[in-house]
Formats: sequence, C-alpha cells, structure tokens
Amino acid sequence: MQIQTGIITISDRASRGEYDDLGGPALKTAAEGYGWKVLGERLVPDEKRDIQRAVRELINHGCQLVLSTGGTGVALRDVTPEAVLEIAVREIPGFGEAMRMKSLAITPNAILSRGLAAVVDTTLVICLPGKPAGAVECLGFVVGAIPHAVKVLQKLPTSC
Ligand code: MTE
Repeated sequence: MQIQTGIITISDRASRGEYDDLGGPALKTAAEGYGWKVLGERLVPDEKRDIQRAVRELINHGCQLVLSTGGTGVALRDVTPEAVLEIAVREIPGFGEAMRMKSLAITPNAILSRGLAAVVDTTLVICLPGKPAGAVECLGFVVGAIPHAVKVLQKLPTSC
C-alpha cells in the first residue's frame, strides 16, 4: 500500500543548524523502503506550537501518515507527546507499548521514550525517538499495523 507520508524532525539544535538533521532523512529512507510516498518534510524546534503547525500543514498537504522524530524523552524541552495529544482525537496506546517493549531488548534507555501514536483528524501520527537508529527501529516494530490503521482512518476497504 502506498501511504502518503509526512516527516517531522523535532530538535532545537538541528533547527538552529548546530548539527545536521539525520533523523528525518533516515525516516524518509525507511518510509520509501516500505513503499510509501513522502509528500513533505519539516524541521522544527521543540516548541508545541511549531510541532502542531507542522502536523497540520502536512495533513492539509494530504498526508495519511505523519512520522515525527525527537522530543519524546524526559528533558523539560521534550514536548512532542504533549503537542500531538493536544490536537489529537485519540491516542492508540498499543503503538507506544510495542515500541517500548521491543526497544527495551535493545537499550534500557528505551523506557525513557514517551513515543506514541495518535489520530489527528483522520491522519495517523506516530512520534518516534530522536536518535535516527532508534526512530527507524521503532518504526519497524509497529509497521505491521500501519497499513490497516491508515485504511480504517481513511475509510478505505479493509480485509478485516
Ligand atoms: N528506542 C530504540 N529502539 N532505540 C534507541 O536507541 N533510544 C532511547 C529511547 N528509545 C532508543 C530508543 C533514548 S536514548 C531516549 S533518550 C529516548 O528514546 C527518547 O529520545 P528522544 O527524547 O530523542 O525522542
């Protein structure tokens, strides 16, 4: 299934140009590897308003799926979950549960990620950790449920 996808990197330092954004490109490669079409990419600081604006812009652009990387941890500047939940219809807790459960086999720090999935309008938004490898790993742990979730939200025919 070709899913119209948007990608948001959420990082104060990358948005100030203090280092290159590696997470967004890593997610783009992963998304294209799954056969999805990346319609737009954004790079924003760890500010709720900027995160919410980026999500809305990508949805208005036609994205059925938005992947974010960064801002899921426990630092006070990490506000990605709060930003997304504030504009979401609902959270889908199984995504965060699966990401943490599987990631704990890789690193004990996985317990620090507040990664989640939520529905904004009819778009599935998945908030992944900031480390590029972690973001790609976590996407891989939940990818099996993404096409079905997108079909249900977009009211496309499903097999179950
Ligand atoms: N999950 C996986 N699969 N692999 C990782 O390397 N890194 C962890 C965690 N989840 C990681 C992971 C680390 S070090 C942190 S601090 C948290 O995600 C939160 O990352 P963020 O604040 O950059 O979003």
